[in-house]
Amino acid sequence: MAKLAVLAVLASLLSSVSCEFSIYAGYGYPPPNPSQPYPLPPACPPLSPAPGLKVGYYADKCPCAEDVVRDAVRNATAGEKAGLVRLFFHDCFVQGCDASVLLSGPQTERTAFPNLSLRGFEVIDAAKAALEKACPGVVSCADIVAFAGRDASYSLSDGKINYGVPAGRYDGNVSRDIDTFFNLPPPFGDLNLTTAMFAAKGLNENDMVVLSGAHSIGRSSCNSFTDRLPPAANSSTAMEPILAADLTNTCSAGSVNVPQDFKTADTLDIQYYKNVLSRDVLFNSDASLTTSLLTNGWVDFYAGNRPSFLGKYLAPFVWHNDFGEAMVKMGNIGVKTGPPQGEIRSKCWSVNNP
Ligand code: HEM
Repeated sequence: MAKLAVLAVLASLLSSVSCEFSIYAGYGYPPPNPSQPYPLPPACPPLSPAPGLKVGYYADKCPCAEDVVRDAVRNATAGEKAGLVRLFFHDCFVQGCDASVLLSGPQTERTAFPNLSLRGFEVIDAAKAALEKACPGVVSCADIVAFAGRDASYSLSDGKINYGVPAGRYDGNVSRDIDTFFNLPPPFGDLNLTTAMFAAKGLNENDMVVLSGAHSIGRSSCNSFTDRLPPAANSSTAMEPILAADLTNTCSAGSVNVPQDFKTADTLDIQYYKNVLSRDVLFNSDASLTTSLLTNGWVDFYAGNRPSFLGKYLAPFVWHNDFGEAMVKMGNIGVKTGPPQGEIRSKCWSVNNP
C-alpha cells in the first residue's frame, strides 16, 4: 500500500503539470485550417463536486427517474450496454456532459467519424419517452446518459461496479462535429497525447488508466487499429504477434468488428490490465499505458500483481471502486445547470426550439 500511496502522490503532481500541455489534434478530421480558429477545450475545468449536482436529485422531482433508466438498460443487449458506457465518455469529453452527443442533424457531433460507431441511442430514447410520460420536462437527457452509463457498468460487471450518480445536469444546445476532433483522444495516440487530452478535462493519469479499463467490454472495427497490424513497427508496445496475426486474418475479410477483450469479452473487469501487460490490446493508447513508470505501475496494480501477496485479491475490489469514482469525476466535466446554456429537452435528439 505504501507503493500505492507514492503512486497516488506522483499521479496528482504529474497531473497538475500536464494541465499546462497544449491540446493536440484528435482524430476524425484533417487538421483544421489555422486561419479559421476553433475554440479549444478549457484547460483543467473545475473539479468535483460540480455545482448544482447531487445524488438523489430526482427523489422529490421525479422519484421513478433512476428506476426507469435502469429498466431500459436491463433490457439492452451486452453490445448496447458497452455502447452506453462509451456514450457517456464521448458526451462528457465534447462540450461537457450535456447530451450534445445525442443531437441529430447535419454537422452535429453524432455525424463525426469517431461517433459513427456509437450505439445505445435507442435505450436512451426509450428511457426518455417513458420519463416524459411520467414527469414531463423534468429529467434531462444528460442525466439519462449518466445514469445509463452507471447501470450498464453495473450490469456488465455483474453488480460489482455501483455508485451514486450526482444529477441535475441540463442539456446543451450546441453540437458541432469539429469539436470531436479536438476533444476525443485517438486510438493511435501515445501516452503524452492521451494524458494531455485527459488533463484538459481535469482527469489525471490514474483516472485515465482506470477509465481505459472500459476497453474490457464491447468491440472495435478493424479500421481503428490497422496501424497496429503487420507490418507495424516492432516496438515495445507492438501488438502481441499471435493476436496480430489472428486479427490480420479476421480483418482481411473486410470491415468487421472484433471484441476488445478476447478473454472476457462482455465482462467489465480487470482482464483489460492483464491484456495491456501481455500486449493483447487493440489500440496504441492502451498499449502505451506501459510506457511510463507511473501509468505502468497502475496497470500492474490493477492487473493484480502488486503487492504480490495481496494484489490478486485486492485489485478487482479496488478497481471496481475506482472505476465508479472516475465515472463520477468524468460526469462533472462542463456541466450546465440551467438556462441559458442548458434546457431540459423534450426529445433527446433535438433542442426544444430548433
Ligand atoms: C484513452 C482514450 C480512449 C481511446 C483512444 C478510445 C478509443 C476507442 C476506439 C477507437 C474504440 C472502437 C471504436 C470502433 O472502432 O467501433 C473504442 C471502443 C470503446 N471504448 Fe474507448 N477510447 C478511450 C477511452 C475510453 C473511455 C474513457 C471509455 C469509458 C469509460 C471507453 C469506452 C469504450 C467502450 C465501452 C468501447 C466499446 C463500444 C462498443 O462496443 O460499442 N473508452 N474506444
